Amino acid sequence: MPLPSRVKIVDVGPRDGLQNEKQAVPAAVKIELVHRLQDAGLKEIEVTSYVSPKWVPQMGDNAEVMAGIRRQPGVRYSVLTPNLKGFEAAIAGPRATWPDEIVVFGAASEAFSQKNINCSIAESIERFAPVAEAARDQGIYVRGAMSCTVGCPYEGDIAPERVGYLAGLMKGIGVQHVGVADTIGVGTPRKVQAAIEATLRHYAVDDVSGHFHDTYGQALANTLAALELGVWQYDTSVAGLGGCPYAKGATGNVATEDVVYMLHGMGIDTGIDLDQLIDAGQYISDFLGRKSNSRVATAVLNKRAG
Ligand code: HMG
Ligand code: MG
Repeated sequence: MPLPSRVKIVDVGPRDGLQNEKQAVPAAVKIELVHRLQDAGLKEIEVTSYVSPKWVPQMGDNAEVMAGIRRQPGVRYSVLTPNLKGFEAAIAGPRATWPDEIVVFGAASEAFSQKNINCSIAESIERFAPVAEAARDQGIYVRGAMSCTVGCPYEGDIAPERVGYLAGLMKGIGVQHVGVADTIGVGTPRKVQAAIEATLRHYAVDDVSGHFHDTYGQALANTLAALELGVWQYDTSVAGLGGCPYAKGATGNVATEDVVYMLHGMGIDTGIDLDQLIDAGQYISDFLGRKSNSRVATAVLNKRAG
């Protein structure tokens, strides 16, 4: 199969990246990061999550961030909503502050479902169903994130059948698109392909994305493996920010800069300006007081410094 000629990147740095930061990141910094990402050409940004502030304090400023964004036409802004309470909060303000897309997030592993959202997989689907329906009623697109599709910090290897099972449940409640996530970055190309193939039994390839954390340094290889299956949408995180608070030791998503460099090098279009993206990554890395996790950004910045 020929590789896709165009790829859509969803930068999840403001949410998946920053959710794990211990130091307070002011709403103004999150808003500025979103602005810099859209200026760099990102067409979708996962901005925040409407979860319990007791569980994830860093996302407690969700409404302030959503209200503060200067929206650009053609850019989609998504947020995580694990239950109706979260969804109602996401649409509590004026329409201009609503997300264009919501994300319900389930897991292929029972243990991870319990640790992350405090319920079983079956219960999670019961909670997601009214969220998906309410969102679609309002014309809001519904995406599902599927965690631990190759490995789980508590259960170890996850069989592709369990991914297929979850994808089928998501499809059954009207989730329009699913992301195949390697939450703890343990996957290798063939395993990731097996998880995607199990998903493709329920979803068309245009409705599937890859979400690879880079803990074991496999995420670019896994991205290429997913491209080989025709998957053309990926969640990545500027500067490789992040990790999941309920997946100990897991590092951030693959850096957006690294994926964009690889794709452009292969002649695949993303619509993203790599230099501006690197500047956005530098902005947030400077704020956090540490070096970027992006190898490409580091190389380019070293070169710029001469
Ligand atoms: P729960 O305790 O089971 O819920 O939490 P509950 O309904 O029993 O409510 C308990 C308390 O939480 C109540 O407050 C509720 O009002 C409140 P209290 O009376 O104790 O003061 N509450 C909420 N507050 C704000 N927003 C809400 C909400 N719902 C209940 N939406 C819940 C269930 C899911 C809320 C909780 O477990 C939670 O917030 N978990 C955090 C999950 C999370 O954000 N994880 C990280 C994101 S997922 C991820 O990173 C993976 C992903 O990137 C893909 C991948 O890499 O795998 C997507
Ligand atoms: Mg993630």
